[in-house]
Amino acid sequence: MAKYFWDTQVEYLRHSRALYYNDDYIEFLVKMVWKIETPVHVIDFGCGYGYLGLKLLPLLPKGSKYTGIDLGDKLLQEAKDLFAALPYETEFVQGDIQEMSLERKYDIAICHSFLLHVSDPKAILKKMLYCVEDGGKVITFEPHWISSSSGFYLHGYDQSSIVQLGLLQKLYEKDAARIGKDGNIGMKIPMYLSQLGLKDNYLTYFVIVIMLNHLTRIELHLLTILIERGATQTEAEIQYENELLL
Ligand SMILES: C[S@@+](CC[C@H](N)C(=O)[O-])C[C@H]1O[C@@H](n2cnc3c(N)ncnc32)[C@H](O)[C@@H]1O
Repeated sequence: MAKYFWDTQVEYLRHSRALYYNDDYIEFLVKMVWKIETPVHVIDFGCGYGYLGLKLLPLLPKGSKYTGIDLGDKLLQEAKDLFAALPYETEFVQGDIQEMSLERKYDIAICHSFLLHVSDPKAILKKMLYCVEDGGKVITFEPHWISSSSGFYLHGYDQSSIVQLGLLQKLYEKDAARIGKDGNIGMKIPMYLSQLGLKDNYLTYFVIVIMLNHLTRIELHLLTILIERGATQTEAEIQYENELLL
């Protein structure tokens, strides 16, 4: 049986997470934006190896708990091993969040780089809303890749020679139409939450600065994949060459 894709990506996750923002950004959110002052029970949708739990638990009031759900056995085993040595109350549940029904309520439902990988993100947001207590929080950390791409800067190059914004925009739109997975979900989340009936929601936008020279590159963007996503042969060749520069 083929290995579950994300179970093969532990190293990639380990290298890439730390490059998204500084740790003090999360501290700023916990203390100044979310203002969490009493212990909370957090559920992390698509927790992977528990990256967000590892960052959040030291900042949350003592007595807080963390539940992580993921499809990947290997990722969850990694999470259990990492948390075994730490003084936090945690629980990890293996399963497909799209199929699961969550019976109990939590103070905070959170996800990190997860909604862009599911075919029906609005259905997941509905589950997140359903599983929080009255007055609880739904928090999403999701990218809007086309706007991140527009911020790429590589010293010594004109941006237009390395980032084909028009093509990338088209590919993301085609992906979303073809498979539902939307790399440009970030800016749409407040709208989805409002469509689901939430009145009081807002977006804290942060600029992702990824130091690509430290990033373990995964060769996902092969020519064939770009073509499958809707690029012409020529567009795919140009994009592939551009990505080799990064
Ligand atoms: C990009 S990773 C992010 C992991 C983690 N949140 C982090 O930031 O390190 C996406 C995660 O979503 C999980 N995932 C994707 N679809 C899922 C589903 N239907 N049910 C449960 N987990 C899922 C994957 O196994 C993977 O761990």
